[in-house]
Amino acid sequence: MVPGPQTSCQCFLLLPLLLLLLLLAAASPGQSRPSSVGFSLAGSWLLRNRDGSVALEARVPGCVHSALLQHGLIQDPYYRFNDLNYSWISLDNWIYSKEFRIPFDFSKVRKVNLIFEGVDTVAEVLLNNVTVGKTDNMFNRYTFDITKEIRELNTIKLLFQSAVSYAAQQSKAHAEYRIPPECPDPVQKGECHVNFIRKEQCSFSWDWGPSFPTQGIWKDVRIVSYDICHLDDFTFTPTYVSSAREWNLKIEAYFDVVSSKPLGGQVTVSIPGLQTHQIYDIELCPGQSMIPLLLNVNKNTTVETWWPNGHGNQTGYNMTVTFEVEGGYHIEKLTKVYFRTVELIEAPIAGSSGLSFYFKINGLPIFIKGSNWIPADSFQDRVTSDLLRLLLQSAVDANMNTLRVWGGGIYEQDAFYDICDELGLMIWQDFMFACALYPTDQAFVNSVRAEVVHQIRRLKSHPSVIIWSGNNENEAALAENWFFVPPSKFQIYARDYVTLYVKNIREIVLAEDQTRPYVASSPTNGAESIAEGWISRKPHDTHFGDVHFYDYGSDCWNWRVFPKARFVSEYGYQSWPSFSTLEKVSSAEDWSYNSSFSLHRQHHKDGNTEMLDQADNHFKLPQNSDPLVMFKDTLYLTQVMQAQCIKTETEFYRRSQNEIVHGQGHTMGALYWQLNDIWQAPSWSSLEYGGKWKMLHYFAQHFFSPLLPIGFEDDDVFHIYGVSDLHVDYKMMLTVRVYQWSSLEPVCSRQTEYLVVKASQAAPLYKEPMVELLKRCGQCTRQSCVISFVLTAGGELSSPTNYHFLSSLKDAVGLEKAQITAKITQQGKVYSFELRTTAIAPFVWLDVGSIPGRFSDNGFLLTEERKTILFYPWKSTSVTELEKSLRLISLADIY
Ligand SMILES: *[C@@H]1O[C@H](CO)[C@@H](O)[C@H](O)[C@H]1NC(C)=O
Ligand SMILES: *[C@@H]1O[C@H](CO)[C@@H](O)[C@H](O)[C@H]1NC(C)=O
Ligand SMILES: *[C@@H]1O[C@H](CO)[C@@H](O)[C@H](O)[C@H]1NC(C)=O
Ligand SMILES: *[C@@H]1O[C@H](CO)[C@@H](O)[C@H](O)[C@H]1NC(C)=O
Ligand SMILES: *[C@@H]1O[C@H](CO)[C@@H](O)[C@H](O)[C@H]1NC(C)=O
Ligand SMILES: *[C@@H]1O[C@H](CO)[C@@H](O)[C@H](O)[C@H]1NC(C)=O
Repeated sequence: MVPGPQTSCQCFLLLPLLLLLLLLAAASPGQSRPSSVGFSLAGSWLLRNRDGSVALEARVPGCVHSALLQHGLIQDPYYRFNDLNYSWISLDNWIYSKEFRIPFDFSKVRKVNLIFEGVDTVAEVLLNNVTVGKTDNMFNRYTFDITKEIRELNTIKLLFQSAVSYAAQQSKAHAEYRIPPECPDPVQKGECHVNFIRKEQCSFSWDWGPSFPTQGIWKDVRIVSYDICHLDDFTFTPTYVSSAREWNLKIEAYFDVVSSKPLGGQVTVSIPGLQTHQIYDIELCPGQSMIPLLLNVNKNTTVETWWPNGHGNQTGYNMTVTFEVEGGYHIEKLTKVYFRTVELIEAPIAGSSGLSFYFKINGLPIFIKGSNWIPADSFQDRVTSDLLRLLLQSAVDANMNTLRVWGGGIYEQDAFYDICDELGLMIWQDFMFACALYPTDQAFVNSVRAEVVHQIRRLKSHPSVIIWSGNNENEAALAENWFFVPPSKFQIYARDYVTLYVKNIREIVLAEDQTRPYVASSPTNGAESIAEGWISRKPHDTHFGDVHFYDYGSDCWNWRVFPKARFVSEYGYQSWPSFSTLEKVSSAEDWSYNSSFSLHRQHHKDGNTEMLDQADNHFKLPQNSDPLVMFKDTLYLTQVMQAQCIKTETEFYRRSQNEIVHGQGHTMGALYWQLNDIWQAPSWSSLEYGGKWKMLHYFAQHFFSPLLPIGFEDDDVFHIYGVSDLHVDYKMMLTVRVYQWSSLEPVCSRQTEYLVVKASQAAPLYKEPMVELLKRCGQCTRQSCVISFVLTAGGELSSPTNYHFLSSLKDAVGLEKAQITAKITQQGKVYSFELRTTAIAPFVWLDVGSIPGRFSDNGFLLTEERKTILFYPWKSTSVTELEKSLRLISLADIY
């Protein structure tokens, strides 16, 4: 039992009274009433700028930009150069106001609170012309006592200050030393000093996103009144006691008690699915009172654990917790509780210096595969739970089991974590600090402390969250001196770093949540960083912790370029979104690769050139006299390049899972940068703004497949590894086929005996010297042939068909322009595309423009004359519509 630290009267008492198999009749709830009443102020407000020249109605939750857009006062802020045209919006100071009546009799109520779930960001809050509070942290919940100010008819007003001017002011006030970086790279066209404001860091621009430093009330706001007590927070975390082989559930209920003397009561916890029903006596102390409960889950029933996607079910149990408080009050919470354990294993590895870095879920080591999540829109009011579900389901459909909620965005909304729980997506949760140094003056630290406590209590009941991480890349920024701080000043910044991520954030995590690991940064060397005083000399060391890896200059088809690290939590290459996505925010004059629009949308210095340079390693660059075709072909080629690069890199990480080579390996995580987009622009994402799958996302479905043969060459020997994330061994046959580019018939084909593909392993299955392979398939040269391979076990079980190129495709001999036709038919809710081809075709791409949905496969190497692909629409469509929109190309078409 862990006693609540902030109980003021030391009088809490916990007596498990009864443990019954079946539900007891709850103590006559008919006679009790809710302990608090409240109502939301969400809906219509008045909005005006400081000089009153703009005035309009605005929705809450929402922001100024969205209100202006909804009233037609601005165009789509994502259209063309509007991010620059509309920078005035963020520089003005806006006022939100509303008149409201209290719909209940409050005259005898002891306490009335005004609760903001989220204010973006700097505002003074006035109720009936009296300042009741101030806000300066977008990630905090604010509760203001308005008992004295509340009337029957009220005016509430929020005077916002521009986040941009506030950040500049705070930076200026920090006179002793500068806190870099001052401003983003000019190519980002962003605002300065974002590290001085607790606001979504990428809202001042990022290397994939625009600068829209919003103002507004971005979450619910409500008024709550109570006489006795109010339940402010409610958390529950299961732990497994292996010695007793039983699950305990720790419940913590945080009350504000306004009674002047301790209050008696009872709490009933009921989990019918586990025949668990328990009643406790409780005592609530005046003031802030935390009630901790420790529940033993009925030992006689089997608790089904929650598993990540691909490893089992996401079983959860309904739980009802009812508090009955002296005086006839009650509070009821209905939730879902999931049981799982998580461990981060940092232990010595045979044959290697350093330590492992991998996760065990429910005692089982799990290879972490997935991507990094950024905010789905600059304007959070547009991010609906339907959109979140679409994006997260796409992650699951690509066989991902983990997303990292990156520290330059936001702590996501509740619906995000609910959906992740339900889908089995694990979350690496950063705290919101990224790519910068941060101040540690007392006001800043206090604000961060409140933020961290609030977010942990909001999120820790979710099984999906498996780790807390202090920041994104700030340890590396210091260790590698990204911001050119003079060596003599290093200690000042090192002290600030430790103050923030160790002495404050880590301390709070340890106090609030003992069920998850904490790392101070990503990347970090984990235990080794700690041993070196939290700032490791080499935070990208492959022998420890996680690494982030980017190298745009080297040839990405060469796996030797990539780090054989323990865990790779970021890596990636850029591509452009499809034409149908760009078309929505551009006009005809923009549709060329070197247009001012194309340069404007690229926020990564030299990014457009880098993409073509990388593509040029292995592909011919598009040549077409029609500028629009040329543009579309170039967009396509950047996606081909990106998909193939990240395929090579991810396959390298997955096959490095079980081996140690020169002390490196045992790679147990691959999270590429980045899953989604914030707007329509070139970026590292695999999903476009709105959710359309890029070629990379279709590739991810294969390279993250639970069963996968991976081919590569080492010293002119061709190897195939078998990779399995499954829990049992399978006997499978490996079929290796070699095709000439000029023929749909394989020149040779070989099938192995049954081989054992071991559970949770990556192991060599096959090898053949390249000269022998070429000789065996007599008509082959490296330029004229390609290898494909697949694992099968008869029946349903098989891997995706994988392939290995023997030369750059710009040198391929015999590759013809394939004539590919598609016959589309409707089959219930899906559409079938029956393809016929006249020749082998690499990177076959089916594009139905803006019709929302995804294909069963895309971007594939077509080696069969006929192949059927399904289209899963996300909105209703028709064969005619699909036929009209379909554009079908493959690599040779762009030559
Ligand atoms: C937006 O700005 C661009 C140049 O920055 C200008 O050419 C264009 O007219 C502006 N558009 C609007 C709608 O103000
Ligand atoms: C609001 O208060 C200020 C001073 O606090 C006063 O000058 C002003 O007249 C008041 N406004 C209204 C509408 O009461
Ligand atoms: C568990 O089973 C034992 C033996 O059948 C029984 O005595 C006990 O009451 C059961 N406990 C619960 C909590 O159901
Ligand atoms: C998952 O749930 C299904 C259906 O309830 C059940 O048949 C199956 O055994 C469960 N799988 C595991 C691994 O528990
Ligand atoms: C759990 O609760 C939900 C929502 O209240 C309900 O729809 C569902 O049927 C419940 N499940 C079980 C197993 O009782
Ligand atoms: C873009 O401009 C550069 C430099 O002027 C040129 O080398 C390149 O070929 C152009 N690219 C395209 C796709 O037009």
